[in-house]
Amino acid sequence: MTKPALGGEGRFGEDYLYFYGEPLDASAEAEAGLIWQLLAVEPGMEVLDLACGHGRIANALAARGCRVTGLDATPLFLDRARDDAAARAVKVTYVHGDMRDLPWTSQFHRVINWHTAFGYFDDAGNRRVLTQVAHALKPGGRFALDVSNRDRMVRQFQSSGVDERDGSLLVDRRQLDLVTGRMVIERTVIRDGRVHRVPFFIRVFTFTELRDWLLDAGFASVEGHGEDGGPLTLDSRRMITVAHR
Ligand SMILES: C[S@@+](CC[C@H](N)C(=O)[O-])C[C@H]1O[C@@H](n2cnc3c(N)ncnc32)[C@H](O)[C@@H]1O
Repeated sequence: MTKPALGGEGRFGEDYLYFYGEPLDASAEAEAGLIWQLLAVEPGMEVLDLACGHGRIANALAARGCRVTGLDATPLFLDRARDDAAARAVKVTYVHGDMRDLPWTSQFHRVINWHTAFGYFDDAGNRRVLTQVAHALKPGGRFALDVSNRDRMVRQFQSSGVDERDGSLLVDRRQLDLVTGRMVIERTVIRDGRVHRVPFFIRVFTFTELRDWLLDAGFASVEGHGEDGGPLTLDSRRMITVAHR
């Protein structure tokens, strides 16, 4: 079988790190605390951070005492994650790989996929990520998936957004395709005198649809939370689904 191409080329690289890659991201500590609470993580547990990026959550969880593996498709991000782990004197196993093709069976007590790192593929590929997670979890294991809350996004739809850093700009123009359930984004980065255009899409979900996908993937139950860990509401910016195997 030919290995599927890893996703995210073009979108995840130098520019992403420039705009979003602060290594000591203060919010990462708070997010790690929320994960700890929502997933009832305990020191010594085996935790997989799936699509871990530059390791902001993986390294924070390792500092709290669990045994963390981080998998990502972007070598540049993994290098940054390893450097940050070394600077913080924490141990994380970083693996280069594709979230649709995980090499583990019943290995982890907990899996997280955080900060909109889901929905990059066609629907068969997206569903495959969920079945791979179920397979990688031990029986009774738990999975937290953190994405945008589509219901709120639709109510307060913003067709464009701009991030600015030291005079460089990242501009997104967005369209929501109601037939495919995809947010289709035309990203323009203006940095160091060059203009770089990156088109991409991301699948967006209501809780009801994502819950059903997770149940189809083999999870026994699924609950929904907002970004504060409380109940998911129309005002929640984030949708954190916690699925039990
Ligand atoms: C929005 S970032 C989130 C990173 C991280 N979870 C965080 O909280 O900062 C999405 C990540 O997905 C990774 N990614 C994209 N396609 C992937 C794939 N096929 N397999 C594994 N990781 C992938 C990217 O390299 C990027 O690091």
